[in-house]
Amino acid sequence: MAKNILITGGAGFIGSHVVKLMVNNYPDYHIYNLDALTYAGNLENLREVENAPNYTFIKGNIVDAPFINKLFTDHQFDGVMHLAAESHVDRSILSPLDFIYTNIIGTVNLLQAAKEQWKGNHEGKLFYHISTDEVYGSLGETGLFTETTSYDPRSPYSASKASSDHLVRAYWHTYDLPVVLSNCSNNYGGFQFPEKLIPVVINNIQNGKPIPMYGDGKYTRDWLWVGDHARAIDVIFHKGVVGETYNVGGHNEWKNIDLVNLMCDIMDRKLGREEGTSRKTITYVKDRAGHDRRYAIDASKIEKELGWVPSLQFAEGIEKTIDWYLANDEWLKNVTSGAYQAYYEKQYGERV
Ligand code: NAD
Ligand code: TYD
Repeated sequence: MAKNILITGGAGFIGSHVVKLMVNNYPDYHIYNLDALTYAGNLENLREVENAPNYTFIKGNIVDAPFINKLFTDHQFDGVMHLAAESHVDRSILSPLDFIYTNIIGTVNLLQAAKEQWKGNHEGKLFYHISTDEVYGSLGETGLFTETTSYDPRSPYSASKASSDHLVRAYWHTYDLPVVLSNCSNNYGGFQFPEKLIPVVINNIQNGKPIPMYGDGKYTRDWLWVGDHARAIDVIFHKGVVGETYNVGGHNEWKNIDLVNLMCDIMDRKLGREEGTSRKTITYVKDRAGHDRRYAIDASKIEKELGWVPSLQFAEGIEKTIDWYLANDEWLKNVTSGAYQAYYEKQYGERV
């Protein structure tokens, strides 16, 4: 069925994978990609679809309510996949307000515009909010986050995402706006901006820079290949039950130090360096303020109810990801020029 779909944040890491999947797999849909092109948004991520007849890029900011209202009036969207966000915990510690504007105000602007446009006719309409497992807070040595785990966000980033999740549910309960939500664990893969752990490690090894390891290095994350997250988003958009939430994760927990050691060994092999060379560059640095100890997802609901399971094992996914960065040196050079240097200096300058 022909539909107009708005994807927000489609020039970012996960959004660009979702845009490409939707444009390629659904020729009957017209995909509108709305993105402000902040430091994290990059149209180079979308080369593959930029000339597709069912794709339109729109530069704009979700914080600008009159602009958002006009956009909904002009295009009569049937569905929204909302990924635009400020997404990095360390940046949220440096500049929390940016997160409040984009993640909270921006989300309410989209909800309000959808509510006004869809008033009285919810048939075939859906507002899909993409969120993070970080809203659930931090786990101890055991246990997993389920969809009913109480919210306990602890960074400005996770608090702003938690707030946006609550607002999405409030629009469902109060105005019957048809919504669906998902909370996913840490993603990895090509096109991720080198401020998050995995691309920072690859970039630093390649350039002979120290690898910054926060605190004792025993913090644990549950890593999912971004292509599998994009597939989950597709499944939830088409098969998810309105009003429901789905946790998405890869059953793939790693302590940071173990993950980085593995990456060092793979990179040494691929770069023809002597075994152990990169491990020697791991540098323990001052910990992140309020650092969450462990995240881990129970993804059984989406697996049982919607039939989604991750397609890629981590051993293959991490090789594939490292190969992508090594083959896309130019992409990495482009995104790490200019403003990136200023951020890196501010974030790591005194530490490494
Ligand atoms: P990203 O930072 O790579 O991309 C965010 C995109 O949003 C960028 O293209 C940016 O230009 C755009 N954007 C930012 N502010 C905007 C604004 N005010 N108006 C319009 N566009 C704006 O983020 P990502 O890692 O791709 O994450 C996408 C979504 O998935 C986020 O909502 C994030 O909370 C969620 N998520 C991310 C992860 C992860 O591991 N990266 C895990 C779970 C959930
Ligand atoms: P990150 O990729 O920022 O994701 P998040 O904090 O949202 O889970 O960080 C993943 C883990 O790696 C987290 O425990 C912080 C740690 N980390 C480092 O040790 N060094 C770094 O340079 C970065 C960016 C992260």
